[in-house]
Amino acid sequence: MAAAAGRARRGGRLGAAALALLALLALLALPALRAGHGDGERQEGSAPPPRPLPPGLREELRQRRRDLRRLAAGGGEAAAGALGCGELRLASGVSVLGWGFTKVVARAALAGGGAVALKAVHGAGPEVLQCVRRYGAPAGCRRLAAYKLLKELALLRRLRHPGVVQLHGQCYESSGDAEIRVTAMLELGSPLDMIQLLQTPWEERFKICLSLVKLLFYLAHSPLGSIALLDFQPRQFVMVDGNLKVTDMDDASTEELSCKGDSDCTLDFPTKSFPLKCSVAGKCEGMNEKKNLFNAYRYFFTYLLPHSAPLALRPLLSDILNATGDLRYGINETLAAFEKVLHLYQSGLYLQKRPLLLKDYISLKGFRTVEGEDYKCWPSYSHLGCLLSVHSAEEAAAICNSQSQCQSFTVTQQRTWTGRPLALFQSSLTDLIPDPNAVLYIKQSP
Ligand SMILES: Nc1ncnc2c1ncn2[C@@H]1O[C@H](COP(=O)(O)OP(=O)(O)O)[C@@H](O)[C@H]1O
Ligand SMILES: *[C@@H]1O[C@H](CO)[C@@H](O)[C@H](O)[C@H]1NC(C)=O
Ligand SMILES: *[C@@H]1O[C@H](CO)[C@@H](O)[C@H](O)[C@H]1NC(C)=O
Ligand SMILES: [Mg+2]
Repeated sequence: MAAAAGRARRGGRLGAAALALLALLALLALPALRAGHGDGERQEGSAPPPRPLPPGLREELRQRRRDLRRLAAGGGEAAAGALGCGELRLASGVSVLGWGFTKVVARAALAGGGAVALKAVHGAGPEVLQCVRRYGAPAGCRRLAAYKLLKELALLRRLRHPGVVQLHGQCYESSGDAEIRVTAMLELGSPLDMIQLLQTPWEERFKICLSLVKLLFYLAHSPLGSIALLDFQPRQFVMVDGNLKVTDMDDASTEELSCKGDSDCTLDFPTKSFPLKCSVAGKCEGMNEKKNLFNAYRYFFTYLLPHSAPLALRPLLSDILNATGDLRYGINETLAAFEKVLHLYQSGLYLQKRPLLLKDYISLKGFRTVEGEDYKCWPSYSHLGCLLSVHSAEEAAAICNSQSQCQSFTVTQQRTWTGRPLALFQSSLTDLIPDPNAVLYIKQSP
């Protein structure tokens, strides 16, 4: 609860508590609505007839509906065993996780024990408020926002990928003409914290960039064609078990921009623009892929890739940054370049020829030390001491040599996501315990 409140506060605005409460009410209002007039039309005479919508809003609604029909026509049935209104009704422990321009997201516990993220239209969010200011039609504006969420759901149903947040189900209810209530039930994640990410080991930051590249590769060749994420910012992604996943898909475009000539196909960013070609079919070919890739470069790669990377990999990473920053690479080449870096890293080929240092250590087979409080190093995998990812005992010896406090180390059985072992570096040799799988290396006094 406290953590959720903390995240909500980080959402940034003043009056966050009030907004969060409003949003929560919007979610909780669901069962009440259901209890009242469940399904079917509003009773004749029980409410005033709806006022006609302003033409501008009617046109926007028409466009959104058409967009939706096109997406839904391609299929994408709810999977067997998907959650529905029944499960939503039995969910408990609802607490707001965050909100954006259009939607509010809450965490909830299912009756079966699992936890999910619930997504609904934020009735007091910027999108609905802006629309109401413009058209003065709250019900129509909420419907417009509901269409956006429905579009997101249609996309999530058809795009299945480890880099796309998983849709567990939905509850859709429409009462009469005015109100549509949609609640999506999604895999629960945690917001992306860029500040915290900057403090994690390079290997973990590389993993996030690689999963993003794999996602963009999938989107470029998706069953719906090449898809661009129009609102591409870290806050549209969440982390699930250390993996990056996109959650906000209502702003995705499944079509390339139409054009008459090349001049219609300039890809504009605040710092740079790229002239692209207009194809004979009248589309800005490749624009969606390039838009995603440049956004990945400016919001993710520049922050996460270079900083404290292994020395020998830095030229390759610079190449990736340069080539994506100038859009010389497409997504295929970018993925290939990332996989090359991964291969070099996993195989230890990046280790430069160095004097062999392990021979200066006494090895004590069948022993390890107790992992207690000891000296700290950066970027340690443990807050208690110095626990680092290494390729081999030889690399660990080089690290131990470079740290004055280090007197001994063990290569542990723990592995990082790339399969590399973690080595524990220590300054004292107090508690030795027998461990048939371990080898303790002790620095010899010079
Ligand atoms: N599956 C999820 N798990 C946890 N938090 C999420 C999840 N999906 C979204 N969020 C949080 O809710 C916020 C709003 O969701 P989003 O889909 O981006 O709505 P909007 O369209 O209004 O921007 C996100 O910025 C994110 O912090
Ligand atoms: C890529 O390298 C070229 C040549 O060194 C340089 O002019 C250009 O600004 C670099 N682009 C980026 C995005 O770093
Ligand atoms: C990129 O890879 C995809 C999938 O392997 C392939 O279909 C496509 O033709 C490739 N595109 C380019 C430009 O090489
Ligand atoms: Mg968002």
